[in-house]
Amino acid sequence: MRLTPFAAMMIIAVLLIGGVASAAPEKDPLRPRVPADQMEGAKKLSTPLFKDSRQAPAKMLEEGKALYEGKGTCFNCHGKAGKGDGVAGAMLDPGPRNFANCDFHAKKTDGELFWVMKNGIQGTGMMALTPMVVTEEEAWKTIAYLRTFCKS
Ligand code: HEC
Repeated sequence: MRLTPFAAMMIIAVLLIGGVASAAPEKDPLRPRVPADQMEGAKKLSTPLFKDSRQAPAKMLEEGKALYEGKGTCFNCHGKAGKGDGVAGAMLDPGPRNFANCDFHAKKTDGELFWVMKNGIQGTGMMALTPMVVTEEEAWKTIAYLRTFCKS
């Protein structure tokens, strides 16, 4: 079969788009990221701001959103709607967490997520962001906000 230049270009375009769309998927979102020997302590991490991040007041969620989309830079990797589809995230393997996944939220405690903010996840693009990028208080607020991406 002979290809016209146009057909050849279309095939290349489809391959390229396919390549971007199939950027590395996130990996085992339900598996703990806190090492086993630190899990007990991580689960106990807490804040005076709220007892449960899912009950954070609206004002705090607004602050969390501003941090997520601004100073915290989270959206670059996790995407504005939290689906793990941020522009910078497309280059990462494993891919960033999809916060729209309610199973993820059901599985992970606030303390574990805060531990990740302080320690990062070794060998991945998720670096320790607290206190270098956001303070502890700000980290709790972004955690409260990212809980809201689960809609059910
Ligand atoms: C440079 C890209 C990048 C940025 C910026 C980033 N993350 Fe991540 N994040 C990742 C990646 C990649 C993973 C998944 C790592 C893995 O699968 O182990 C992840 C995972 C997570 C997790 C999941 C932890 C778990 O237990 O599964 C949380 C929570 C998180 N990020 C919060 C944030 C918050 C909040 C911000 C902003 C303050 C942020 N991230 C900014 C790349 C990023």
